[in-house]
Amino acid sequence: MARREQSFICQNCGAVYGRWQGKCDACNEWNTIAEENSAVARPQMPGRAPRKGRVFALEPLAGASHDAPRLASGIAEFDRVTGGGFVRGSVLLLGGDPGIGKSTLLIQVAAALARTGQRAVYISGEEAVAQVRLRAERLGLTSAQVELAAETSVEDIVATLGEREAPRLVIIDSIQTMWTDMVESAPGTVTQVRASAQTLIRFAKRSGAAVILVGHVTKDGQIAGPRVVEHMVDAVLSFEGEGSHQFRILRAVKNRFGPTDEIGVFEMTGGGLHEIANPSELFLSERDLGSPGTAVFAGIEGSRPLLVEIQALVAPTSLGTPRRAVVGWDQNRLSMVLAVLEAHCGVRLSGYDVYLNVAGGLRIQEPAADLAAAAALVSSLANAPLPADADYFGEISLSGAIRPVAQAAARLKEAQKLGFTRAVAPEGGGEQGLALQPVASLSSLVADIAARGTRSPRTERRAGGGE
Ligand code: TYD
Ligand code: MG
Repeated sequence: MARREQSFICQNCGAVYGRWQGKCDACNEWNTIAEENSAVARPQMPGRAPRKGRVFALEPLAGASHDAPRLASGIAEFDRVTGGGFVRGSVLLLGGDPGIGKSTLLIQVAAALARTGQRAVYISGEEAVAQVRLRAERLGLTSAQVELAAETSVEDIVATLGEREAPRLVIIDSIQTMWTDMVESAPGTVTQVRASAQTLIRFAKRSGAAVILVGHVTKDGQIAGPRVVEHMVDAVLSFEGEGSHQFRILRAVKNRFGPTDEIGVFEMTGGGLHEIANPSELFLSERDLGSPGTAVFAGIEGSRPLLVEIQALVAPTSLGTPRRAVVGWDQNRLSMVLAVLEAHCGVRLSGYDVYLNVAGGLRIQEPAADLAAAAALVSSLANAPLPADADYFGEISLSGAIRPVAQAAARLKEAQKLGFTRAVAPEGGGEQGLALQPVASLSSLVADIAARGTRSPRTERRAGGGE
């Protein structure tokens, strides 16, 4: 007989409690604990001896390994992020906000693979077959031999897929809608999602099919509920973008078979997602030339250099505590750059609101953006437009010195390709054709920008400003 086991499980992090409480002690979220029946429907005979373990053979490390053959989908930006294509028997989790384009991306991937003669199956738990067809029609993919179904029972799905020769790619849209007979709690709960994912992962390993699970994302950017699933899968990809922009960025958060810092860039159009092979051009296409407060950052995303505009606005505040708002960059790094500007360069910012934005909806994680952010901030404060043909990169240390960053040569090469003739960067950046203006310290950069401005950033020394 199955034992009835009521437990209280946090729907955010999966922590288990004996009784209900308002706040989860593990992840500090409120109202996330729900009662679930986590009993596993396995007969447990009281008093029966536990099963004796089966003996299995251990294998040497150097044995003949059937190497992980990769299967490229044919969508280059997608394959770049997975590390060159799907590995046999691997499971990917694709997370992203609702409406960002996960279903669109995956039907395009499935169709591209089907066109190469591989068997691809698309299982939708959210939309009817007719809806999926309608989207495929809009994308002009109806001729691709993708097999469709609207199903939510994991047992039925595994049985159906096991009937014939295993497919090469199975898409499950989404894991939150799946349910298994193995556990009794409702679909969408942590227990169900975890058990369903486990069954599908077992299927993938056994059959050699690559499985992509779609996962919804909560407001704070976590894959909803099943953060537990992130640990079970081979790769976690996240599909990001600002609602108002048409750019979409696919990022590998975790990847057992490839790099984790690669990004793929797409554009959402009326005819689906289009690959962007040279994203720098796209991110710089709407540049506001000649206005103060913008600096071009020569960044690296994964193995690819990427130029992007950093915009800053420094405006007198009317609040007791000035605002510091940042979109697309790290709030803590902004605070650090502001502190260094105050402490070492005499730039007084306590009376100003500071806004920083990375153009195009891109999210930058590199500390190399420090110098570009500082340049944009000082440029806005001093009302001094930066030279249109200069780009910036370099890490700022707490002492106010500029530190060299990795892959300077690649950054310079990309900037040159896009018509930049000057780079403001730490010393020793390499001997490229691009004239490098080495900066040793932040204060020399501030002085340089201020000399061309109409307002002095060092308001405490030259009251009244202007020269
Ligand atoms: P969808 O793939 O359904 O998002 P998700 O599965 O992540 O929830 O994409 C929905 C959005 O994409 C919707 O707002 C409409 C837009 N879209 C286009 O702009 N062009 C297209 O060709 C398609 C299919 C969708
Ligand atoms: Mg969808």
